[in-house]
Amino acid sequence: MENFDFASPTEFVFGRGAEERVGAKLAERGARRVLVHFGGESARRSGLLDRVAASLDAAGIEHLELGGVRPNPEVGLVREGVRLCKEGAVDWVLAVGGGSVVDSAKAIANGACIAEDVWELFETKRPNPDVLPIAVVLTIPAAGSEASKNTVVSNDELGRKTGYANERQRPQLAFMNPELTFTLPPFQTAAGITDMFCHLLECFFDDYGPVPVTDNLNLSLMRTIRAEAPRVLADPECYDARANLMWAGMLCHQGIAGVGRHEDWATHGLEHELSALDPSITHGAGLAVMFPAWMEHVHGENPGRFAQYGREVFGLAASGSVEADAWSAIDETRAFFASLGMPTTLGELGVAEEDIEGMMPTLRANKGVPFGSFKKLDLDDARAIYRRAL
Ligand code: NZQ
Ligand code: ZN
Repeated sequence: MENFDFASPTEFVFGRGAEERVGAKLAERGARRVLVHFGGESARRSGLLDRVAASLDAAGIEHLELGGVRPNPEVGLVREGVRLCKEGAVDWVLAVGGGSVVDSAKAIANGACIAEDVWELFETKRPNPDVLPIAVVLTIPAAGSEASKNTVVSNDELGRKTGYANERQRPQLAFMNPELTFTLPPFQTAAGITDMFCHLLECFFDDYGPVPVTDNLNLSLMRTIRAEAPRVLADPECYDARANLMWAGMLCHQGIAGVGRHEDWATHGLEHELSALDPSITHGAGLAVMFPAWMEHVHGENPGRFAQYGREVFGLAASGSVEADAWSAIDETRAFFASLGMPTTLGELGVAEEDIEGMMPTLRANKGVPFGSFKKLDLDDARAIYRRAL
C-alpha cells in the first residue's frame, strides 16, 4: 500500500430534517454572518431556502444571499461572491445545492481570503492556506464535493474548466437529507449516479497492485450503487434507496475509496473538456460516454483488473479468456449507464469529430502530458479515445 495523508474534517448531519439544524450547528461553530449560495430555482421552489433562512434566523445568524449558480459553475459569479464576502465581512459560506453550488462556494471561500483574482488559484494551483469555512446543504448526490478537497470551475472567456485542490476547502459541515433529493429530475438522478460510480472507477483502475482494504470497500460501493440505482429510478421517493445513494456519493469522492492507490482521473480530464466546450453538457452524462471509450483504449495494460471488476461488480462468470472477460466488463459498464438513461455516444451530446482537435490545447494545459495512471496517455491517446466515443 502506498503512503498517504488523509484527513476528512467534515461533520455530517444526515437524515430527515437535517437542514433544520443548520442554524444551531453553525452557531455552535461561531458563525455570525453567512453567505447563502445557491443555484437556479430548485432550492427556492421546494421551500428549502426559506427553511434554511428560518433556521439561521432562529440561531441569530445574519445572512445574505447569492443565487444563480449554473451547472458547470462559472468564475464570473464566483467573483461576485468574493466581492460580497469581502464587503460584507462574511465569516462562513453556506452552499445550498449540488456539486456546482458547492464548488462555486469553495472558490468564493478561497477568493475571499486572497488579494489576487480568484482565477489565479485555478491557473497556478498554488497552495492557499486561508479559506473561509464552508457548510453545505446537499440537494443532489453526485460530485461528492460535500466532503472533497476539490472544486471545479469554468472560465467561459478562456474556454476552460479546471479544478483546484485544497485540503482547507473541505466543508466543515454537510447537511444531508435524502428527502431533499426526491424532486430531482430522473436525468439528474442518473447523471449523479453515473458520476459517483465513475469516481470509484477512477480509483480502482490505476497502475498500482491490489490494496485489498481499499479495493474491497470500493467494489462494495460499486455493487451498492448498482443495486440502488434501479430502485430509485423506479420509485423516486424511496427514502432508503435515496439515502444509500446519498451516503455512497460522499464515500465515493471524499478520498477513502482510493487511499493507498495512485488513482487515475484521466477520464475526468477528458470529460471536463466536453463540459468546457459546451456548458450545457452534464458532467455525469459526459462521463457515461467517455468511461467505456477510455476502458476500451487502455484495458490491454491490465485486462485482469477489468476481469476482476466484471466478476465482482457485475457477477460475470470467467470465460477462460481474460481478454474476453475484460471486454464483457466494459460492455456491462456501458449497458449499466445506458440502463440509467445516460447517452452512449458523443453525438448524443452534440459533440462531433471536428470538435476534438479544439479540445487538445486546453486538455494539455489542464492535465499536462502524459496524464493518467492505468496507462500514461498523450494527446494522440486522447484523440483516439474521443474518436472511439463518437
Ligand atoms: O440550479 P438548480 O435549479 O438548483 O438545479 C440543479 C441543476 O440544474 C438541479 N438540482 C439539484 N438539486 C436538485 C435539483 N433539481 C431538483 N431537485 C433537487 N433536489 O440539478 C442540476 C445539476 O446540479 P449540479 O450541482 O450541477 O450537479 P452535480 O452535483 O452533478 O455537480 C456537477 C458539477 O460538479 C463538478 C462537475 O464537473 C460539475 O461542474 N464536480 C465536482 C467535483 C468536486 N468538487 O469534487 C468532482 C466531480 O468529479 C465533478 O467534476
Ligand atoms: Zn465526477
